[in-house]
Amino acid sequence: MNTQAKPRVLIPGAEIEATVKRLAAEITRDYRDKNPVLLGILKGSFVFLADLVRKLDFPLQVEFIRLSSYGSGQQSSGSVKVVQGLRLNIKDRHVLVVEDIVDTGVTLAFLMEYLKKKKPASVRLCALSDKPSRRRVPVQIDYQGLTVPDRFLVGYGLDCDEKYRNLPDICVLEE
Ligand code: IMP
Ligand code: MG
Repeated sequence: MNTQAKPRVLIPGAEIEATVKRLAAEITRDYRDKNPVLLGILKGSFVFLADLVRKLDFPLQVEFIRLSSYGSGQQSSGSVKVVQGLRLNIKDRHVLVVEDIVDTGVTLAFLMEYLKKKKPASVRLCALSDKPSRRRVPVQIDYQGLTVPDRFLVGYGLDCDEKYRNLPDICVLEE
């Protein structure tokens, strides 16, 4: 018998798309002449970043960094590690970090400090979703998409034990 949790749609793909479109307009207004580096945090941001960059019609570069804070499952280990660092030199560049979800804030607080040491011209954060009720460390979200409830979410890049990243909607897992 399969007793696995079943995903239930919380935010349909169409609503995500409208949110991405709004964020793209805000980012275009601020970055169109800055040749920014859009820095995706792997793996969760890959779907959002792919949709976002295709709505940005100006010169930019894409870079990735891989961090790990969660072990397996739904628990954060609380300590952040750089699993794959930057290849690109970001000194004097305008960096826009692209994240899937801000939860406790531990990952982003760590990353912002890590990036500032590399002396970029600016660093800002764009997050598709925000779980403010879970925040432990303050994080400034400059371009904010959706506010989501304190539930474990999957889909649109978000995983549970590496599953469900390919779902087109943001879903909650139900028993
Ligand atoms: P933090 O707690 O803000 O450090 O969140 C770190 C990372 O945990 C996020 O970038 C996500 O990749 C992941 N994460 C947080 N909440 C969820 C969730 O509800 N579903 C899947 N991944 C999550
Ligand atoms: Mg992430």
